[in-house]
Amino acid sequence: MKNNIVLCGFMGCGKSTIARSLAKMTGFKAVDTDSLIEEKEKMPIKEIFSTFGEEYFRRSETDTVKELAGSKNLVIATGGGAVLRKENADALKQSGFVVFLDIGKEEVLRRLSGDTSRPLLNRPDKETAVENLLRERRPLYSAVADCTISAEESPNEIAKKILALYRNRAEKS
Ligand code: S3P
Repeated sequence: MKNNIVLCGFMGCGKSTIARSLAKMTGFKAVDTDSLIEEKEKMPIKEIFSTFGEEYFRRSETDTVKELAGSKNLVIATGGGAVLRKENADALKQSGFVVFLDIGKEEVLRRLSGDTSRPLLNRPDKETAVENLLRERRPLYSAVADCTISAEESPNEIAKKILALYRNRAEKS
């Protein structure tokens, strides 16, 4: 079993920030699927969507997830849609301890008000989009995760909780 810590959850739940805190605490390397895709494609996610479409982005995301899942000593912040494909979810689950950072609609809307970098939410009916996507995705995040943690606390507190759960689980295995 690989020893990575994998963070999944909806847009705006703080995956990248919490990954950086966890990396400091563990000495692991923090990696972010979205940043790696942007580096590979040499353009922002928003532009990848508008130029090549979502399907192209998802293929690049699957390649990135699989590459990372083959490594060790990582804290992996995944994009909000990364665990939705079964092959991605399986690869991530195999690669370590998966945490679902759960967040409610109001908090997503508060944190992402004014954000234009997320193509799936860049629309006038943003509230409905968040509501529908959350309803559809929550069960999938839960299904892939080894544990669920509320994302509505400070990143450092959340990171500490995750670390305790991770160490507890590492001792038992
Ligand atoms: C997406 C989430 C985004 C990014 C892309 C699609 C999604 O990542 O991968 O815009 O499908 O939820 P964040 O969760 O880091 O915002």
